Amino acid sequence: MADKKKLVVVGYGGMGGWHVGFAQKSDVVELAGIYDIKEERRALARENGIRAYETLDEVLNDQEVDIITVATPNDHHKEIAIAALNAGKNVISEKPVCMNSEELEAVIAVANKVGKLFTVHQNRRWDTDKMRIADLYKKGTIGKMLNIESRIHGSRGIPGDWRKVKSEGGGMVLDWGVHLIDQAIMILEDVKIKSIYARLDHVTNTEVDDGCHIVLGFENGVDYTIEVGTSNYINMPRFYARGDKGTAIIVNWNEPMKVVVKRVGEEKDATPIKAESGLTKTMAPRDEDTVDTFEVPMPPSDVHDFYRNFCASIDGKETQIVTHDQMRRVMKVMEYTFESAEKNQVLKVNI
Ligand SMILES: NC(=O)c1ccc[n+]([C@@H]2O[C@H](COP(=O)([O-])OP(=O)(O)OC[C@H]3O[C@@H](n4cnc5c(N)ncnc54)[C@H](O)[C@@H]3O)[C@@H](O)[C@H]2O)c1
Repeated sequence: MADKKKLVVVGYGGMGGWHVGFAQKSDVVELAGIYDIKEERRALARENGIRAYETLDEVLNDQEVDIITVATPNDHHKEIAIAALNAGKNVISEKPVCMNSEELEAVIAVANKVGKLFTVHQNRRWDTDKMRIADLYKKGTIGKMLNIESRIHGSRGIPGDWRKVKSEGGGMVLDWGVHLIDQAIMILEDVKIKSIYARLDHVTNTEVDDGCHIVLGFENGVDYTIEVGTSNYINMPRFYARGDKGTAIIVNWNEPMKVVVKRVGEEKDATPIKAESGLTKTMAPRDEDTVDTFEVPMPPSDVHDFYRNFCASIDGKETQIVTHDQMRRVMKVMEYTFESAEKNQVLKVNI
C-alpha cells in the first residue's frame, strides 16, 4: 500500500469532526490536523490530541499536506478551495460544493490550471437506500420505471446556526436538497432532465427555505420527486418507486426494501370491496397469488471508498468518482429549483 496522504480538515465543527474521526480510521489518509477560524474549536482539537494550525496560511504552507477537506459553512467553500488549489493541494469540498454555478466554474478553472484534484463529498451516494433504488431501476425489476419519490422528513425546523442565514448558504435546498438531487442524477445516470418544478416551504423561516418539493422530469419519462421537510410530524417513506409491473418501498433508513411485482398471466376480475361510504372494484386489493412479494436487504456499503477513490485518483490509478460535470448538473438543478419556485412555473431545461 502507498503511503497515506496527509489530510487537513478546515472547519472543525459537526461535519469537520466527522471527517477527523473518519481520517483517524482510514486506510488511505492520515490526519495532519485541523484549522478552524474560532480559537475555541482549535483549543478543542488540541484537547482531543489533534494538531490545530493557527492560520489557514500555515496549512497552505505546510509542504507535507496533500489534501484539504473544506467543512466550513457553504459561503466559504469557494475561497478556501481556490486558496488551497493555488497552494498545490488537492481539495475535497463539503456539499453543496459552492453557492452557485458561477462560483463552481471559478474553482474548476483554478483546479484545471494548477492540475490538482477538486471534488465534493457526496457521501450519500453510499446510502444503501439509494443503492437499492438504483439497482431496481438498472435491472428493471418493477418493469419500466414510471416515478421515483425520494423524501427526507423531520419536524425540528432548521438547526439554529448558519443554516438559517441566506448569505451563509442556509436553507434546506442547499442542505439535504443537494444530496437528494445528486442521488437522482446518479440513479438515472446519463438520462437528461428536461423539466423542473419546485415549491419551497417557509413554515419556520422566512429568510431561507425550510423544506422543498422538487419534481424532475427525465427524458425517458421518469418523474422524480424530491422532498425535504422539517415540519413533518409523521414521515412519508424514504423511497417509493413505481414501475409498470410493480412497486417498491423503503420506509426508513436501515430497513429492507419491499418489492411487489405482478405475475405474468391472466388477470382475474376483482370482487368489489366496501370502502368507507361506497364500493370499489378498481381499488380492491390483489389476490396474493397474482403477485410476487419479496424484500431486498441492505447491501454492503463502505463510504471510506470515497477517500480511497480520491487518493487513488491523486496517484493517477483511478478517476474521481464525483466528477466536475456531475457537480455542474447538481448546481444547475439547485439553481433552477429556486427559479421555478420563485416563478411558480414548470421550467423546460436540458441538464
Ligand atoms: N456530507 C454530509 O453529510 C454533511 C453533513 C453535515 C454538514 N455538511 C456540510 O459540512 C459543512 C459544515 O457544516 P457543519 O454542520 O459542520 O457546520 P458547523 O457550523 O458545525 O461547523 C462549521 C465550522 O467551520 C468553522 N468556520 C467558519 N468559517 C470558517 C473559515 N473561514 N475558516 C475556517 N473555519 C471556519 C466554524 O467555526 C465551525 O467550527 C457545510 O458545508 C455543510 O453543508 C455535510
